[in-house]
Amino acid sequence: MEIGRKIIHLDSVDSTNNYVAKLLQGDEIDHGTVILASEQYAGKGQRSSEWVVKPGENLTFSVFLDNVNVAVGKQFILTQIVSLSLVALLKKRNLKAEIKWPNDIFVNGKKIAGVLIENQLRSTTIQRTIIGVGLNVNEIDFKNFTATSIKNEQGAFVPLNDVLYSFIDLFNKTWSTFISDLSLLDQQYHNNLYLRNVSARYQDQLGVFNGLLLGVEPSGKLLIEREGVLASYDLKEIKFISQNAL
Ligand code: BTN
Repeated sequence: MEIGRKIIHLDSVDSTNNYVAKLLQGDEIDHGTVILASEQYAGKGQRSSEWVVKPGENLTFSVFLDNVNVAVGKQFILTQIVSLSLVALLKKRNLKAEIKWPNDIFVNGKKIAGVLIENQLRSTTIQRTIIGVGLNVNEIDFKNFTATSIKNEQGAFVPLNDVLYSFIDLFNKTWSTFISDLSLLDQQYHNNLYLRNVSARYQDQLGVFNGLLLGVEPSGKLLIEREGVLASYDLKEIKFISQNAL
């Protein structure tokens, strides 16, 4: 499953995820290829949002995985592997990162990275995967967003290439370590989960409430205890309001 033997660096593109998808239509991309862009003018985020970054300051890239062969019901393991690779990358730089369900990486309660995974299925199996990563590296002005970057946390400029190579290396290591031991993967994921066992504010269709995040089910649904009752939520069914419970 090794990635990173081929890296294509684009100056400007709509979205690196879209670029991979276009190459796939013509069968013009090999497994493991990384598409890096200095600028994305229509970067995509989760929940149909945009991903906007200043050109050249942060990493925006996609990785293409072919023949993934993961059952659709187990697609969450892809998210877990990418998240743990990012946590390991930041740990190497002495930053304590946490995984904010479902696709964000947080440092000191602020978002430092986001992941957008797009799968192509064959029957009930994921055949091809596009992993899009936006990782804040050198940006320091986040306006009103609760976000941060490696430089913002540590003060020093970091070459983008160093961080990308580090991701490639750690993704390859994380994949080979955990793909044969999914219970260990799950355990590591939970060990690094933001606000696990901490009471915080959430909102579901019934309103805003104090909830205790207990973990994530193998299906990828979030498990939250609310006044002693356990509920599981899909991405669109729950909103995080604040890390402080009332
Ligand atoms: C999120 O947190 O909402 C996910 C953000 C994912 C952004 C990355 S940047 C590279 C890749 N190309 C895209 O258009 N999106 C992902």
